Amino acid sequence: MRKPLISANWKMNKTIMETEEFINSFIPMVKDVKDVDILIAPPFTSLSAAAGLLKQTNITLGAQNIFYEEKGAFTGEVSPAMLLSAGCSSVIIGHSERRQYFGETDEIVNKKIKTARKNGLEVVLCIGESLKEREENKTFEVLERQLAGSLKDMTLEGITIAYEPIWAIGTGKTATKEQANEAHANIRAWLKKNREGADTLRILYGGSVTPETTAALMSQPEVDGALVGGASLKPDSFAQIVTNAGKQ
Ligand code: 13P
Repeated sequence: MRKPLISANWKMNKTIMETEEFINSFIPMVKDVKDVDILIAPPFTSLSAAAGLLKQTNITLGAQNIFYEEKGAFTGEVSPAMLLSAGCSSVIIGHSERRQYFGETDEIVNKKIKTARKNGLEVVLCIGESLKEREENKTFEVLERQLAGSLKDMTLEGITIAYEPIWAIGTGKTATKEQANEAHANIRAWLKKNREGADTLRILYGGSVTPETTAALMSQPEVDGALVGGASLKPDSFAQIVTNAGKQ
């Protein structure tokens, strides 16, 4: 049995004060949740404040990005030691927005994952196809290429996969539960063939997840949780997603 993981990716949203407001209202809403792991990934500037408030709670903290070098002349980048010292235990790597707007390739993603794991950070690796790729029936080919490239020379220890079809991100167009399950099953099949430990690895779905769509997605055997953007920005809506994920 894989314990569900519900993760918030706030992207470039929330100041420090807004982060504190969110967390202060969110903590009591989910304090009794035991059957779901909860992760919040605020922007870098809010990490330290969030970490202070999340101590002794059932909520863990993650960052949305990391650099692959440990330190040095890399203006604007953030190292694993910095994330650890800010209170993070996880990091999201390879989000499609990073790939699309900041030129992250599978090779860069692979270097980031290696550095994160070497420093003990858990990784949420994002993969997913574009609409064009889906329409051309290239979904599984793309996912396999991303998996092979991003996880080159890596074990699955400390890794969670987030399947995020690009066409479903921020569009209000959620993949159907069948589409999500099919993609997850393909991801797991590839991992089983190529790596140890694929049975216990969690595969999250991301792309326009809402409180209303959570239960159906979570009813699928291969869907182990969600990576939530827009609907994670309000405490009550994110808490509802967490609660609905636990009812399966
Ligand atoms: P939305 O939930 O806003 O579609 O974003 C999904 C996402 O990209 C999470 O990482």
